[in-house]
Amino acid sequence: IMRKPIIAGNWKMNNTKKEAEALVNQFKPLVKDAKCDVVVCVPFTNIETVAAACKGSNIKVGAQNVSWADKGAFTGEISADMLKDVGAEYVVIGHSERRQMFGETDKTVNMRTQNALKSGLKPIVCIGETLDEREGSITEKVVTTQIKGAFEGVDAKLLDNVVVAYEPVWAIGTGKTATAEQAQETILYIRSVFKGLYGENVANALRIQYGGSMNASNASELMKKPDIDGGLIGGASLKAEDFSKVVNF
Ligand code: G3H
Repeated sequence: IMRKPIIAGNWKMNNTKKEAEALVNQFKPLVKDAKCDVVVCVPFTNIETVAAACKGSNIKVGAQNVSWADKGAFTGEISADMLKDVGAEYVVIGHSERRQMFGETDKTVNMRTQNALKSGLKPIVCIGETLDEREGSITEKVVTTQIKGAFEGVDAKLLDNVVVAYEPVWAIGTGKTATAEQAQETILYIRSVFKGLYGENVANALRIQYGGSMNASNASELMKKPDIDGGLIGGASLKAEDFSKVVNF
């Protein structure tokens, strides 16, 4: 099965418009021959600027959250149509930082995912266990619950447009990467959960990224693993040279 790898930067809450433009202009030439899909998920305020700077290049733009509603009285929220309007194609949903600090649940992840898919945005749905959960040997149970929750009612036909990001919470921003073996093992398990829900073909076509302290020095080892189809890159996506090295793994 050939799954095209997808490397996505997640800038989190970093960069003004000016900084954003300078950064993409720096890495654009460095990733132009990439063999994978390249995405940058930027703060809402940067989407239009970054989309303009990336026009005609191989870099796609994403947001970091999307409302589950279409429009109306939802103060502080941004809709899928608004995101598409300014040039976003992808959107990160259910990042662990949102689950831990902003009340995101499997239910809200599900509602956002459904809305993104309905609107033609491609969701990057994040799952992953905490350190306590890994040490308690319940990683498989945790990711199974997250997947079933996030994808409840999502039609198999739409899975083409979905990317899943497996991010062990203990590896995010800690400099502590999961070993390539650990990441492969859990991602293989995640794929088996999708097999159970959607069947072999859909699961084998689904792209599953690893995220958590992935960087220039560990990307190639992670990417060699058969079930790891890409990365969701935080810290290392904020420096042009580091990010380009990950993209050109
Ligand atoms: O979305 C990205 C992940 O949270 C990973 O962040 O690469 O800084 O560990 P990190």
